[in-house]
Amino acid sequence: MVKILNGKKLAQQLNEHTAQRVANLKAKGIVPGLAVVLVGEDPASMIYTRNKARQADKLGFKSILKKMPSTVTQDELLATIRQLNADPCIHGILVQEPLPDQINQSAVIETISPEKDVDGFNPINVGKLYANDGRHFPVACTPRGVMTMLEQYQIPVAGKDVVIIGRSRLVGKPLQALMINQNATVTMLHHASTDAEYYLKHADIVVVGIGKANFLHASDIKNGAVVIDVGINRDEQGHLVGDVDFDDVSSVASAITPVPGGVGPMTIATLMQQTVDLAEWSNQ
Ligand code: GUN
Repeated sequence: MVKILNGKKLAQQLNEHTAQRVANLKAKGIVPGLAVVLVGEDPASMIYTRNKARQADKLGFKSILKKMPSTVTQDELLATIRQLNADPCIHGILVQEPLPDQINQSAVIETISPEKDVDGFNPINVGKLYANDGRHFPVACTPRGVMTMLEQYQIPVAGKDVVIIGRSRLVGKPLQALMINQNATVTMLHHASTDAEYYLKHADIVVVGIGKANFLHASDIKNGAVVIDVGINRDEQGHLVGDVDFDDVSSVASAITPVPGGVGPMTIATLMQQTVDLAEWSNQ
């Protein structure tokens, strides 16, 4: 029988733990502060940022949802980030992507102070992830959430063959580093990969996040593989679906994440966890 990895339940547990840490910080006079910056009116981004700010409020954070028009200039956006960098009540800053064309995304990411970079996108933090030298640093929330899920379900990664489909800066690349740091053998597949079938068939753990509904089928994977679905798509009826043909793959996999209720809730819970990490680290 396939095991369903319940991200919703795990996220609730993680949030309970985070709430406890918030209470401990408040006893010392510290309130974790999260600033979410939304540029423009992308419908998905509006929902995501509202959910992030709401969850932060629920956990007792100070939360700011800063909305800026899609016509905002680069200078105006960077000035806002610098203000948040200088605000001692704010421990985590997140600028929701995608950003409009006039904005240089790298400049935005590099302007966020590495100590407040709750997304873990700043090159300083990406470098620390690769250095893996025991220092504290924030990591992209979705990959960190995936690692938490595997750990909580006691699915070991050390020595395992892991295939990650998709090499995005938000998911694939940081997940590769996290997996390597935990002694997995990692293969990255992307649109130009040859022999993708071969690597997939040998993988103990498959992570897919490319934004294509029903991309992964039972015939693609090894018997008993663990399948993590990072995809978020809408089907013809408007339902939320992942990149994995869930029913088909469930007949072969040993464990699988559903969409919705899998990786998604873990991402927001990890964002909250990481805001509290940053608040704790800044007060050490
Ligand atoms: N857009 C989609 N996912 C993310 C994320 O994790 N962080 C930011 N900043 N923007 C996103």
